[in-house]
Amino acid sequence: MTGVDELVGLFPPGTRLADDGMLVVGGCRLDEIAGEFGTPVLVVAEQAIRQRAREYRAGLTARWPDSQVVFASKAFPCTAVQRAMVEEGLWIDVAGGGEIVTALAAGVDPATLVLHGNAKTTEEIQLAVEAGVGTVVVDNFDDIDRLETVVPSGLEQGCLVRVIPGVQASTHAAHATGHEGSKFGLTPLVAREAIARLQRSDRLRMDGLHTHVGSQIMVAEELAAAVEPLAALGRFPVYDLGGGLGARYTYADHPPSLDRYLDVLIDAARAHLPADARILIEPGRSMVASSAVTLYTVTTVKPGTTTFVAVDGGMADNLEVALVGQRFEATVVNRVGGGSQPVTVVGRHCESGDVLSENVPLRDAVVGDLLAVPATGAYCYTMSNNYNGARRIPVVFVADGQFRLVVRRDTWPDLLSRDVAP
Ligand SMILES: Cc1ncc(COP(=O)(O)O)c(C=O)c1O
Repeated sequence: MTGVDELVGLFPPGTRLADDGMLVVGGCRLDEIAGEFGTPVLVVAEQAIRQRAREYRAGLTARWPDSQVVFASKAFPCTAVQRAMVEEGLWIDVAGGGEIVTALAAGVDPATLVLHGNAKTTEEIQLAVEAGVGTVVVDNFDDIDRLETVVPSGLEQGCLVRVIPGVQASTHAAHATGHEGSKFGLTPLVAREAIARLQRSDRLRMDGLHTHVGSQIMVAEELAAAVEPLAALGRFPVYDLGGGLGARYTYADHPPSLDRYLDVLIDAARAHLPADARILIEPGRSMVASSAVTLYTVTTVKPGTTTFVAVDGGMADNLEVALVGQRFEATVVNRVGGGSQPVTVVGRHCESGDVLSENVPLRDAVVGDLLAVPATGAYCYTMSNNYNGARRIPVVFVADGQFRLVVRRDTWPDLLSRDVAP
């Protein structure tokens, strides 16, 4: 059976148990958070996010001084998170117009935005150019056509070319992006043409290359393997080596440490890239996954061959299980750790795939209990939805025993707010 310490270790750093056994995150008791904001609620340990951002920055700069950590904000694109990252000195990766809008609202300097997308629309490119987005990552020739039409003469838009490195990472197929046949970027052969076009352009500046192997990658060497294929394409001022480092969701997950990942990646950069180039990296998941906990209320316990513990949220606030079968752990907040009878924690949605945690040993969960699911900081908020009329859940920052609401819960009228005809 898994120990309490091991389970608490999946929660944000600094999480502890109060004398009465209640989980305390960021110095705040989870029962008090639930009392104040209701459930489900996404509780984010602000110091955990900031500390991780500092570790990333210090680790990268120590190894490669002319470098920049760019937060892949798709992992958690609310303005409060984007603002915290910027306050910690990070740049922001935006995947599409919506993330440009939130980043600008968060007060991000547009020159530090890096725009991605394999299907950027003219509207998004216009938005980026008008806002002064510093870097557009060119994924295809239509991006170049659109940029040449939209960028006014006299301006120079910084661009990187996204290259498919031909690396098949050992992650879920839906997370892999660096293999031959990927929909993202250009093969090295075709990338040469895109590079040549940018070099000929009088309004697009060919700053360098970008690559990204995929997400939730547990082998540092697979991330570093993307570096060498870039070297064959020539020497450039900038190389963006993407994100992808795995996060720890459950006991069996042992992602490389940040130091090991950076050692292996930057060793590859030293071996293959020009020493005077600037290196960017774009972590998302490994920056924020462990910083948050989703808190639910148990609504139903249905005993049987499988005992189902159903909660008041599910796939509307956490799609990771349904999309890629991601494993999450769970615990009753004031009886932390395992009971002897594993149960299956399910959500309230009309899909059998709406499971939060299969075979998880809860300690005697009963209706009304609060349940905490750790490691929900990445890709949960951003993929939240209104399935079955769910109101998207609030985000609460906790730090030093204080809490503050940074995103409110949808209201019932919010669910009707886009309807324009009866
Ligand atoms: C281009 C790009 N950069 C960075 C990331 C962030 O990846 P991760 O969240 O795995 O670090 C992604 C997401 O897959 C991406 O598509």
